[in-house]
Amino acid sequence: MDTQAIATGLMPLSCIAIRQETPTIKTFRLRARSGPVSFVPGQALVLKVPMPDGPLWRSFTISGGGGGDLHLTIKAQAAGGATRWLHDHFREGDVIEARPPRGTFTLALRSNEKLAFVSGGSGATPMMAMLRDLAESEPEADLAWFHAARDPSEMLFTSELTELQRRMPRLSVAVTVTRPAPGWFGYHGRIRRGLLAAAVPDFGRREVFCCGPGGFMQEARLIHAAEGGAKAQFHTESFGTETPVTPVAPEPVETGGPAHLLKVNGRDLHIRPAETVLQASLRQGVVIPCGCGEGMCGTCMVRLVSGDVDARPNGGLTAEEAEQGYILACSSRAVSDVEIALE
Ligand code: FES
Repeated sequence: MDTQAIATGLMPLSCIAIRQETPTIKTFRLRARSGPVSFVPGQALVLKVPMPDGPLWRSFTISGGGGGDLHLTIKAQAAGGATRWLHDHFREGDVIEARPPRGTFTLALRSNEKLAFVSGGSGATPMMAMLRDLAESEPEADLAWFHAARDPSEMLFTSELTELQRRMPRLSVAVTVTRPAPGWFGYHGRIRRGLLAAAVPDFGRREVFCCGPGGFMQEARLIHAAEGGAKAQFHTESFGTETPVTPVAPEPVETGGPAHLLKVNGRDLHIRPAETVLQASLRQGVVIPCGCGEGMCGTCMVRLVSGDVDARPNGGLTAEEAEQGYILACSSRAVSDVEIALE
């Protein structure tokens, strides 16, 4: 899958195939016009979804690839949202723009031989990407995957998982559903300590990669800690679900120091001490697309035209983008008067 350096900025992706995974989940197979796209399993892609009222930027974890293609496995969520639009209007042959893959939720974080994947709903997608990679590079990997779905019809990748269990002797997979159907013999109910301990008895001794809704991940984190797991052995990712439409910027903590001018696409604003570029822009009515708010997804990438910032990307900016003068508005603070351009 890794054959060529990725481009910076936006890249057009053609949809070359669509597979219906479950009644509400589709996998879109995308191919860049510029050639094969590199990604590390577990990374995410930001799509510019062309909604009727203007584009929405959404992060989706990459579920897999092959030959330089990118697979996005997306669940249709609320009517009027980007995922619903993709399901209803994005067809084979259509083109959509995206930012290059990014993110630090990958097996490069790993420091423990014993792994646990914990996923809720479409949080299974980065796990599947990492599992496929492990199946090739380390089929003896000691991995317990615990997945929570709403009902059995929403189970993803079942036949492939069966095949991978055959090839990976130390892979165990446990599934819980909140709406069991007749004939379901797996676990049922929401994630809780007794359930997780039964499914993965040595959960506290494993390094966890967790992806799903916020409450789900918080519960998993608490259980891991209660089972004796170290904080540094618990990694999270939340891009499998639809990220917020309207960015919510927390109030900055005032720490003194000078305020600076902030020019955004020619409009004069000002930025308070300790405020991020995103916070200052939103406070003054300029909307910058925002996903994670923590420097990880790249959704808020803007071009620094002039001035200096204290930039603290958290995996959301590629080295090429940084070299070309891009910054992440959510994790950059002005240290002089600054001008940025939204592109
Ligand atoms: S919003 Fe995700 S990197 Fe800024």
